Amino acid sequence: MGALDTTFIQEAEHRPNLKMVEAEGVPSIDLSDSPARTREELASEIGDACKKWGFFQVINHGVPLGLRKRIEELAKEFFDQPLEEKTKVKRDEVHPMGFHDSEHTKNVRDWKEVFDFFLQDPTLIPALSHPEDKSLRKLTNQWPQNPPQFRETCEEYAKEVEKLAFKLLELISLSLGLPADKFNGYFKEQTSFLRFNHYPPCPQPELALGVGRHKDGGALTVLSQDSVGGLQIQRRSDGEWISIRPVPDAYVINLGNAMQVWTNDLYWSAEHRVVVNSEKERFSVPFFFFPGHHVSVKPLDEITNEENPPKYKEFNWGVFFAMRNRSDYKKQEVENIQIEHFKVSE
Ligand code: OGA
Ligand code: NI
Repeated sequence: MGALDTTFIQEAEHRPNLKMVEAEGVPSIDLSDSPARTREELASEIGDACKKWGFFQVINHGVPLGLRKRIEELAKEFFDQPLEEKTKVKRDEVHPMGFHDSEHTKNVRDWKEVFDFFLQDPTLIPALSHPEDKSLRKLTNQWPQNPPQFRETCEEYAKEVEKLAFKLLELISLSLGLPADKFNGYFKEQTSFLRFNHYPPCPQPELALGVGRHKDGGALTVLSQDSVGGLQIQRRSDGEWISIRPVPDAYVINLGNAMQVWTNDLYWSAEHRVVVNSEKERFSVPFFFFPGHHVSVKPLDEITNEENPPKYKEFNWGVFFAMRNRSDYKKQEVENIQIEHFKVSE
C-alpha cells in the first residue's frame, strides 16, 4: 500500500498501544457433543461469555479444516495479484461487493484491502434514493477469473460457516431461555456477507490501524484469523483494550449491534480494532451474519418488562445496513449511523 499518507492517521487518542495486555479470560469454548455436558450447559457457557465480553473463541466447531486451509490459501493468492487484476472486480456504488482498498472506519482510512461477497446472490436491500423511497435494490456479487476455483471454494466455505453461525445463534437463543429457533426467521433473505481482509506490513504502525475501532452490525461474526495477531477488543468491564490471541484452528466469535439490541444490552457487542505491524502481513476472514432487510430490530418482548424497559427504539435492519454501507466509499462529513442513535433517552 506504499507510504502512509495523512488519510490513514488516527487521532492521538485512538492510536494503538502496541504493547498489549493479553486477553485473560476471553474463553475458548468446545462445541463438540460431549456426554459430560448438556446442550443447556453449553448454551449457558456461551451466554456468560456474551454478557461479560461479547467475544469468545470456539474449537471443535465442525467447519472442515481442509476447506478453511484452502480458503486461506486462495485469499493470499487473490491479494498477491497485481492491483490492476484485483481492480477488475472493484467495488463501486452499483456493486458494493468485490475488491476495495480504501475503506474508512469512523472517517479514517484503514490499512487494509478487502474482498467481499454476499451469501445470497442477489441480496435485496432498500434503495434509499430519497428519504421516502420504499423500493428495493438487488445487489449481486462480482467474481474474479483468478485464482481458479475461487468462486466455487468461496461458496462452499460460506455454506459451512453459515451452518456454524446458525448453531451459535441457536445456542445463544437457548442461553436466553428462549426456544432454539427464536431468531432463525430473521435470517430468511439474509444480508450476510463474507469478507477477506489483507493487512499489508505498515511503515508506521503506531499511527494507523488495520481497521479502526468499530462494532460489527449484525447478529454475530464468525472470524478466522491467521497466527500473526493484531485483533484487539475493548473490555466491557473497564474499557481497556486487550488482544485476542490467535488459537490454532479456532474461530473468534463476536456479537454485533442487532444482538445487543435484541437482548436489551444483556449481551454485549464489543468495540474492536486491528493493530498492524511493520514486518508481517496478516489475513483474516470474517463472516458477518446479518438479518434480512425486512427485519425490524428491537429489544425482545420476552426480555423486556416494567423493571427492564426497552433501551432502544425499533429500527429497520435494511435501512440501517444500507445507510452504514454508504459511508464506505468516501470520507463523510457526518458521523456514520450507530445503534447509539436508537437509544431511548433516560
Ligand atoms: C472486521 C474486523 C477483525 C480482524 O473486519 O470487521 O473486525 O481480525 N476484523 O481482521
Ligand atoms: Ni469487526
